[in-house]
Amino acid sequence: MSAKLISGTEIREEILEEITAEVAEIKEKHGKVPGLVTILVGASPASISYVTLKIKTAHRVGFHEIQDDQPEDISEADLLALIEKYNNDDSINGILVQLPLPKHIDDKKVLNAIDPDKDVDGFHPVNVGRLMIGGDEVKFPPCTPAGIQEMIVRAGVETKGAEVVVVGRSNIVGKPIANMMVQKGRGANATVTIVHTGTKDLAGHCKRADILIVAAGVPDLVKPEWIKKGACVIDVGVNRVGEKISEKTGKKIAILKGDVDFDAAKEVAGSITPVPGGVGPMTITMLMLNTLKSLKFKLGLM
Ligand code: GUN
Repeated sequence: MSAKLISGTEIREEILEEITAEVAEIKEKHGKVPGLVTILVGASPASISYVTLKIKTAHRVGFHEIQDDQPEDISEADLLALIEKYNNDDSINGILVQLPLPKHIDDKKVLNAIDPDKDVDGFHPVNVGRLMIGGDEVKFPPCTPAGIQEMIVRAGVETKGAEVVVVGRSNIVGKPIANMMVQKGRGANATVTIVHTGTKDLAGHCKRADILIVAAGVPDLVKPEWIKKGACVIDVGVNRVGEKISEKTGKKIAILKGDVDFDAAKEVAGSITPVPGGVGPMTITMLMLNTLKSLKFKLGLM
């Protein structure tokens, strides 16, 4: 058997079209478009490529967008002042500070300085708390978990009563997706287990999963024997395992591998996300959705 492929690239296109249409409608009725600012400190090639794609996508869906790049040696005080400027800027609905930040800057202090009502990453403790409470309290679910949940829903996978096993307990993926899947509501109402480096029988837990979400950061960690026949497998891993020359651009690009042994797993799973082209494209898409939601909250449309 070969599993159904859940393509993040295709789902991204669907959602971006929905966002574009809604932005145009709000612009016509209310004369406003969502505003997103990205703040990148330094020049890490990976961060530059992420931020460039975020800004390009924001432009594509009709947002007002600002790419505010700052030098590696910006002081923490100056960065906090910059965030305060955007907190007070009415044309900006979403503020994204690209992580990681240089070592001389306390990233907790920086994330906590963002107005929770403009925190479209969903990393501020207020939004983490809102997510924990669930239901109408949730304003900005963090983008990668929100993307995972949306893929599961759009792939038509039943979550109510499903056994969900999450591999990994990070603050950005593992903990929030587990929390989201356990809530009552759309794409949730599941029985959730989180497994991690302290878990005794990793394979045993994974084998029980109707939906297996893997965010461990270990290439090929999950073997086909760990997967229940017909399960939905969501691979969040983006591991750089080497470099190659791109056929399209002639430039050096990273060779990416997921946390799941894809070729073997697809013979057991019922549905599976590829790497690349799976969860990856969903993260930026959900950032756009959160920025649109931020304007809608402000206009009283949500
Ligand atoms: N660095 C890698 N992923 C992310 C993300 O989702 N948000 C931010 N702000 N920085 C990141």
